[in-house]
Amino acid sequence: MYLDKTILNNTVIVCPYLNPFKLKGPKSREMNSSDVNFSLLQNQLNVPAEFFWPEKDVAPSDGDLDLPVIDLSGFLNGNEAETQLAAKAVREACMGHGTFLVVNHGFKSGLAEKALEISSLFFGLSKDEKLKAYRIPGNISGYTAGHSQRFSSNLPWNETLTLAFKKGPPHVVEEFLTSRLGNDRQEIGKVFQEFCEAMNGLIMDLMELLGISMGLKDRTYYRRFFEDGSGIFRCNYYPPCKQPEKALGVGPHNDPTAITVLLQDDVVGLEVFVGGRWQTVRPRPGAFVVNVGDTFMALSNGNYKSCYHRAVVNKEKVRRSLVFFSCPREDIVPPPELVESKEASRQYPDFTWAQLQKFTQSGYRVDNTTLHNFSSWLASNPDKKST
Ligand code: OGA
Ligand code: NI
Repeated sequence: MYLDKTILNNTVIVCPYLNPFKLKGPKSREMNSSDVNFSLLQNQLNVPAEFFWPEKDVAPSDGDLDLPVIDLSGFLNGNEAETQLAAKAVREACMGHGTFLVVNHGFKSGLAEKALEISSLFFGLSKDEKLKAYRIPGNISGYTAGHSQRFSSNLPWNETLTLAFKKGPPHVVEEFLTSRLGNDRQEIGKVFQEFCEAMNGLIMDLMELLGISMGLKDRTYYRRFFEDGSGIFRCNYYPPCKQPEKALGVGPHNDPTAITVLLQDDVVGLEVFVGGRWQTVRPRPGAFVVNVGDTFMALSNGNYKSCYHRAVVNKEKVRRSLVFFSCPREDIVPPPELVESKEASRQYPDFTWAQLQKFTQSGYRVDNTTLHNFSSWLASNPDKKST
């Protein structure tokens, strides 16, 4: 562990949780995540300035967002009238701000709760044990704290465990975790593997509902498009923070992926930017939050809005969320009928998820201009198309 001297209130104090590399800019990418230790940090009255965010980003929430709660049972049971009602609500939400809630989503009873418990078990392990699952720079899967590998300022107040998912066998989530954490921790891998498989199934159903909501002639267009796709599963763990008005669990961003399904525990924290202000998405027992990401916005030719969101932290309580991001394998091409009419010209160039991922992983911070910047970058670098 590194020791760092930081001046707070004119007193020099030794902070055993910050690596001096962080203060040197680009070097910060070389750090490993052992440098941020939230068990120590959460008890400090003064949060280190690396965790402070610009004022516009920490503007407080201005009330609750009234989101449609979409009951999926009719659609999942093949009831056409209920499917059309659900599709209409999905369409309105996606054209407005790109977020909605789903209930009766077909998850095996108790699985979501079990996965949340398992995430607490993981984050409750000793720092040394969590670091066995350390994210090797350049890889998707692994544990990080405060994202200090990638950034040196505006650090998020969270610990994350991210796991690349691909429909198996092999059971990639389970294999990654058990190989890193050892056989004594097999349960963690097993539960997360089962959770990811259920999430992947739900994503397929949602893709069909999204196709129906757009009135596509082939309502399975998106489902088929994502059939061979993969996902990224992330457990977020937000420790209490003594200065929550200055820090953020996750800064304002759009998910670059296609659609995101998010399960939050019972602590408030997720907020969406709608109508020029931040609004709270209150946890609702049994519900998942569905967000449109940049890739789906492109796949809908811009008709559906990628949701701009953030997670705030609080003084008293740990908050947890489990997030599943869906990623397509193929070229991102909207259904022909959405781009062939005269009024609807093509809004974004062809690209692949691998290209967008590369763009967003290269130290660039994703926000609501990412898709636009990425499109311009692709247009000015035609050779990147074959990457
Ligand atoms: C994310 C995210 C929000 C939350 O992980 O991309 O937006 O509530 N999380 O944890
Ligand atoms: Ni997000």
